[in-house]
Amino acid sequence: MPDNLIELVDIWKAYGSTQVLKGLCLNVREGDFIVVRGRSGAGKTTLLKIVGLLEPPDRGIVRLFNQNVNDLSDDEKSSVRLYKVGFIFQFFNLIPKLTVLENIELPLAIAGVDRRQRRERVYQLLKYFGLLDLAERFPETLSGGERQRVAIIRAIVNNPKIILADEPTSSIDNENSELLISLLSRINKERIVTIILTTTDLYEKLPATREYLLKDGVLKQK
Ligand SMILES: Nc1ncnc2c1ncn2[C@@H]1O[C@H](COP(=O)(O)OP(=O)(O)OP(=O)(O)O)[C@@H](O)[C@H]1O
Ligand SMILES: [Mg+2]
Repeated sequence: MPDNLIELVDIWKAYGSTQVLKGLCLNVREGDFIVVRGRSGAGKTTLLKIVGLLEPPDRGIVRLFNQNVNDLSDDEKSSVRLYKVGFIFQFFNLIPKLTVLENIELPLAIAGVDRRQRRERVYQLLKYFGLLDLAERFPETLSGGERQRVAIIRAIVNNPKIILADEPTSSIDNENSELLISLLSRINKERIVTIILTTTDLYEKLPATREYLLKDGVLKQK
């Protein structure tokens, strides 16, 4: 039985007087594709920020890769984020002044990979996923669906073990949503990347290994 890649134990989080998470627990194993559904304001983004070490919980234990991360320094947390976790945010976050190629290679540049290797890696990924035509284009010239696909490629460029995808289909149409989900599913299966994806849609069909509803500050398995 594989170890837990992500373990959340009794997580509490409030913003001011808004108690968002109330003793939330979650275990995720390598290769899982976890879907978290919940209405707007339920705390989905808060949950992903805690898993991705962008926000600390008020109380509770976060373990990633069998290590308690509560006590990591900021530098250590940044390093986990850079090398082990890929984010796809709710709203597009490509940098407008950079081409698709430059956007995708950014995490590699931050990691100190030299330019030739960066280019090679980005072209290889774009080719593998059939997106080579987009390489030299700027984000503003892409459709919403194309932007989200580029954001996914950027999220996996450093070979992370975990992808956190926050409502990646919320601002694109059905056809693009299906393309995006099948891209994530391939990444999950072919690269054994563990995924946590959130959605407000209670019915959208998704290739999950496990599904949860986030309600009243806790996760209920569906
Ligand atoms: N930085 C913050 N300061 C104050 N309140 C916050 C902050 N971030 C989130 N909240 C509140 O916490 C609650 C949960 O927010 P969160 O963004 O996690 O919800 P969500 O499930 O992602 O919603 P959506 O589907 O609309 O993105 C909301 O009531 C929100 O207003
Ligand atoms: Mg959100």
